[in-house]
Amino acid sequence: MTLAVRRARPADLPVCADIYIVTVSVTFPGEPATAAAFAESIVGEEQWVAILDGDIIGYISVYWPTNFIHSLYIHPEFQSRGAGRALLAEVRKLAEGDMELKTDKANVRAFTFYRRLGWRAVGEGMAASGPWWRLRWTGGRP
Ligand SMILES: CC(C)(COP(=O)(O)OP(=O)(O)OC[C@H]1O[C@@H](n2cnc3c(N)ncnc32)[C@H](O)[C@@H]1OP(=O)(O)O)[C@@H](O)C(=O)NCCC(=O)NCCS
Repeated sequence: MTLAVRRARPADLPVCADIYIVTVSVTFPGEPATAAAFAESIVGEEQWVAILDGDIIGYISVYWPTNFIHSLYIHPEFQSRGAGRALLAEVRKLAEGDMELKTDKANVRAFTFYRRLGWRAVGEGMAASGPWWRLRWTGGRP
């Protein structure tokens, strides 16, 4: 099993859209899981992909003006194999300064995952979809 991470190319985006659709459907059943929602979610952002044995299995999307990780989605069949951690480590290497992201409070698995990797809650809020945490990673090498 070989896991690699690289910057996304335009030709990768349809695969990322498919990953978005299946992962959102499974993780956030009330949210729109469509190609249009994917396209809207990455505007102005940079994506990196995780590749397992030659196939893209997940991606991360970063809004660099504020070092904000907007999306991190690993296909449900390929979670818990280190891909999420590898994508986070890659973008943290590139970041100058702190990084932030938001995660739904109901998404306990994601919250536990980020906490283990050194992210800390620095804020919270409420959206139509429910309450969320703002998490921050404050430097140091991953
Ligand atoms: C949350 C999410 C991004 C984490 O990514 P992931 O690839 O599943 O996570 P990783 O594999 O990097 O690390 C998670 C676990 O795998 C373990 N792991 C890491 N490498 C491994 C390997 N080679 N083999 C087996 N397990 C491994 C880690 O120790 C960790 O343990 P845990 O399962 O007890 O938490 C992913 O599960 C996901 O996309 N979830 C749905 C969407 C979502 O919630 N996104 C975040 C929104 S804020």
